Amino acid sequence: MLDIIINSLWLIFPAYCANVSPVLLKGRRPIDFGRNFVDGRRILGDGKTIRGFLGGTFFGFLAGLILVFAQNFLHIPHLIFGHTYLTAFLLSFGALLGDLIGSFIKRRFNLERGADAPILDQLDFLIISLALLSIVSPIPLSWAIFLLILTPIVHRESNVLGYILKLKKVPW
Ligand code: CTP
Ligand code: MG
Repeated sequence: MLDIIINSLWLIFPAYCANVSPVLLKGRRPIDFGRNFVDGRRILGDGKTIRGFLGGTFFGFLAGLILVFAQNFLHIPHLIFGHTYLTAFLLSFGALLGDLIGSFIKRRFNLERGADAPILDQLDFLIISLALLSIVSPIPLSWAIFLLILTPIVHRESNVLGYILKLKKVPW
């Protein structure tokens, strides 16, 4: 069990960093440039900005690089998963891409920016980052299941914290 916890947390850390950074970056220009989809609703909405996307990918990648160096210099018991530049990039880019896909789906269901979409809000970034990672590195099923259970719990807590710190308008 300890193996599952340590390896899956080590693995997912860049994606978590990528996912939380956009809220700190205060981007303004929306990725969809304010345009609507064929259904007359916003493609992505004002919550998805260019700065948030690029900055989130950058900070997630940076977090991954720190792990690349850390795993070379420290001996971490139970650790069998090793990051590379590529895993760091795929996880952080995948996290932001999954977040965009999640917003695209929310807009299609006529949910406004910031509306609560349980499961989708918490797992969109996780599923796409794991999917991109799996192109270059197999992920044990037990690690994926552990992350699918853990992520909604962590996500909820971190959003409440962001709300208390006035970084977010809503606690989800
Ligand atoms: N954010 C951003 N660019 C992104 C993703 C997020 O600037 N690509 C910022 C926005 O300020 C956003 C905040 O991070 O409001 C929180 O992100 P999220 O909860 O994903 O967006 P929501 O505002 O809830 O919008 P949506 O309903 O589309 O999820
Ligand atoms: Mg949201």
